Amino acid sequence: MTTTKKTGGLAGIVAGQTAISSAGGAHELRYRGYSIYDLAANCCFEEVAYLIVYGHLPTQQELDSYKKRLRTLRDIPDDLKSVLELVPAYAHPMDVLRTATSFLGNLEPEQDARDHYAITDRLVAAYPAMLLYWWHFSQNGGKRITCVTDADGVADHFLTLLHGKKPSPLFTKMMNISLILYAEHEFNASTFTGRVITSTLPDFYSPVVGAIGALRGPLHGGANEAAMELIEKFETAKEADKGVRGMLERKELIMGFGHRVYTTADPRNIVIKKCAKELADAMGDTTLYPVSEAIEKVMWDEKKLFPNLDFYSASTYHLMGIPTPLFTPIFVMSRITGWAAHFIEQRGNNKLIRPGADYTGPGALDFVPMDKRTGKVA
Ligand code: COA
Repeated sequence: MTTTKKTGGLAGIVAGQTAISSAGGAHELRYRGYSIYDLAANCCFEEVAYLIVYGHLPTQQELDSYKKRLRTLRDIPDDLKSVLELVPAYAHPMDVLRTATSFLGNLEPEQDARDHYAITDRLVAAYPAMLLYWWHFSQNGGKRITCVTDADGVADHFLTLLHGKKPSPLFTKMMNISLILYAEHEFNASTFTGRVITSTLPDFYSPVVGAIGALRGPLHGGANEAAMELIEKFETAKEADKGVRGMLERKELIMGFGHRVYTTADPRNIVIKKCAKELADAMGDTTLYPVSEAIEKVMWDEKKLFPNLDFYSASTYHLMGIPTPLFTPIFVMSRITGWAAHFIEQRGNNKLIRPGADYTGPGALDFVPMDKRTGKVA
């Protein structure tokens, strides 16, 4: 790792190597060499999940058997359901997923018969149920849903569990695209957190739990929820323009804008913005999309900041009837693929990740016995 004393937050520092994805430039993101534009235009989520986790685009036969395997892994154990019933309704769904992942790691630990690939498939398949069993139980007066559906893939399975009915083809398509865009992103904060944990050689669930914690914050995955809260404040484009200018004057952060890696645009935004527009047109929305565009314009005019994936994901999800607290957990449902690929890659060529630090505390001090202590810094 190259270091410079002036760099905060490891910005600009190359902290390792990966063959899983490459991000950079204004419009470039590739998963294992393939452009996200091609993947989002041509694939279902499972095709991309397979590519990321298993390293190559699946043949039709590989894809069919992968999807079939995932369908058999959707239901969650009764003991996990009992734990989910104990989690209060006011809990954040990200905390629910963190707990559920950890508890599943107790029920179905990693061992010879259940390796990291098996655990990855299990989590990809079971996250919709882990999230939505709790959601319906806690929000709908103790309603216990059936966690199995006959949906083809993760996208329509999730929407079916959430809404209790088969989604429209348009919603399924949008959900697939969104899951593809969120699946992987090089050494982002949650992936790097998980790689650090993996480097100490724990079980496979531990880095996933840590990564969920890192993803939860509004500077990372939590930005899609925060973006929705902002967009919803305004009823017209004019109001949004005025409101955001005021926020910038007060030096407030506008969630869903800016990025550590991209300088002038987030390539994923190009795709998700089209989805938001298509959905807005289909649903007859005359507020969310114009308000979002107004915010985008102010941010570019005033700060030269551009929307990242989280910004238009917010209205895309909202227009599909997805409650805002579930936005970041959807990120988990998808990013589990990228995380898993990174943790497996880390295990394949492991070295403990343990950087150094510049010490800024006091010099050597004489020990102070209890009766001489003042309670103040020396
Ligand atoms: N709203 C307002 N100002 C922003 C901003 C935002 N979303 N993002 C960056 N800026 C400003 C910073 O305040 C800073 O201004 P300054 O130089 O006057 O202090 C400047 O742009 C550089 O930002 P910085 O925070 O140093 O960049 P970073 O690389 O450390 O941060 C993010 C990257 C993503 C954390 C940051 O852009 C951000 O907080 N965005 C909002 C949260 C978000 O959308 N996260 C999801 C990322 S995919």
